[in-house]
Amino acid sequence: MDMFVVRGGRPLRGRVKVGGAKNAALPIMAGALMANGPVVLRDVPNLVDVSTLASLLTTLGMSVQRHADGSLHMHVTDEEPIVADYELVRKMRASICVLGPLLAKRGRACVSLPGGCNIGDRPIDLHLKGLQALGANIFVDRGYVIAEARKLRGARIFLGGSFGSTVTGTCNVLAAATLAQGTTRIESAACEPEVVDFGNFLISMGAQIEGLGTPFLRIEGVEQLRGVDYQIIPDRIEAVTLMIASVMTGGDVTVENLDLSHLTAILEKMQDLGIPMETITEGAQPGRCHVRVQSPTSLKSAELSALPYPGIPTDVQAQFMSMLAVADGISVVTDKVFPDRFMHVPELVRLGAKIHREGQSAIINGVSTLRGACVMASDLRASAALVLAAMAADGETVVRRIYHLDRGYDHLEARLNSLGASIQRVEDTPANVPESLRLCDIFSPVRTGQTLVLPSGKQVRIDAPQPTEALIEAGLTSVSNTPSQTEAAN
Ligand code: UD1
Repeated sequence: MDMFVVRGGRPLRGRVKVGGAKNAALPIMAGALMANGPVVLRDVPNLVDVSTLASLLTTLGMSVQRHADGSLHMHVTDEEPIVADYELVRKMRASICVLGPLLAKRGRACVSLPGGCNIGDRPIDLHLKGLQALGANIFVDRGYVIAEARKLRGARIFLGGSFGSTVTGTCNVLAAATLAQGTTRIESAACEPEVVDFGNFLISMGAQIEGLGTPFLRIEGVEQLRGVDYQIIPDRIEAVTLMIASVMTGGDVTVENLDLSHLTAILEKMQDLGIPMETITEGAQPGRCHVRVQSPTSLKSAELSALPYPGIPTDVQAQFMSMLAVADGISVVTDKVFPDRFMHVPELVRLGAKIHREGQSAIINGVSTLRGACVMASDLRASAALVLAAMAADGETVVRRIYHLDRGYDHLEARLNSLGASIQRVEDTPANVPESLRLCDIFSPVRTGQTLVLPSGKQVRIDAPQPTEALIEAGLTSVSNTPSQTEAAN
């Protein structure tokens, strides 16, 4: 297993391009199961989640090849397989996106339930309710959802739940309705840009869909869908992560290839925080732009709620919290999509943030500096939040379990390093933990009554009970300093 060693305090400068959206690419790849011909997808990010889904699709009779230009070439060669196996599905919840396409195209699907998740309960009841409304017979057996329908029929479906609509649930029901007989009306459909991209992909294959981007979708079933060549939208979550990286490191970064229409709520919040931003259209593709993001002299505090689109996405909640940890004053962050998505809080606290959780909110008392420490990533976006905090912190930070990060960011450390960050990917072994973080080695030899000669030449007498702060301030941060520079005075 790998970990990051991050040396903080380096301002990021330069230009960085945002890649294709993971959350659009995944349902679109699954949707390619319904095509009667080859599908080429462009701007597909090179991520572990994409490879995991590609492996799953291969077991479902699809040939999937990545080309050097970032495109995926996909073609169904065998329509018999219908089982999405637990061993692959458990690695990635979005595997559930194959349920609707398999059912619609092959008449049967047997898809493992994804199981537990670190960001809270993630039921799929709305997916199943929608597919049942289209006439599927669905039951759960031995951990698998088994769905069957000789012919799906259009229906009126309400897809809202206690926490809003469902993104992948809307994709599943939309996919199935596309090949159902007659008209389907979905109410309370998810409006996320990734769902719109999925709908546009289906339309390009011949589907008849109206209302994308609104909660009301009308789908006229068609007999079949054709193969296409389709370009995925830019990843708005990655864009925001890179923008926050510029702010938190005191940097000046131009983030390229954004669709500003996907970022309205986020950019407004960043403006409220006092972040200087400049939109540049020169050199950008039509409909896209670049945004130059600088660091404000004083970052304001804020109240922020993660909400379904067009609100601020839950997928940037952790990154925003990292930034607000070093803002002036008190901020409140609430997650109304995943109310338990706060696993990053105790890890940010390890870096010196002052945050405490109150129900579905976190209260953040901004501090002037964070300090490097060993921290553990709990999920994809929490990992990004920890990397951001580590780059802003004084000293070195170890971020463990970065396999979460690899699931959803395309070579993030390489791109941050190209902007001036210092992030090293190393094997997670005790020997690779920097000396400055091995406090056990540093302080264990220190005994009350000793006088230490510090690297500065200053002598500190160790009087119990709390000598450590003085030692750290005086520069005793490296194990190599300890034995040679420790002198027993008496
Ligand atoms: C997708 C995104 C994920 C993002 C999330 C919310 C992908 C691959 N993943 O996940 O990155 O954080 O949207 O924007 O696109 N719910 C139910 N019943 C259901 C389905 C969902 O109660 O049947 C609840 C969930 O527990 C959650 C809320 O609805 O509280 C939103 O979940 P949903 O939109 O389904 O998330 P995903 O599609 O899994």
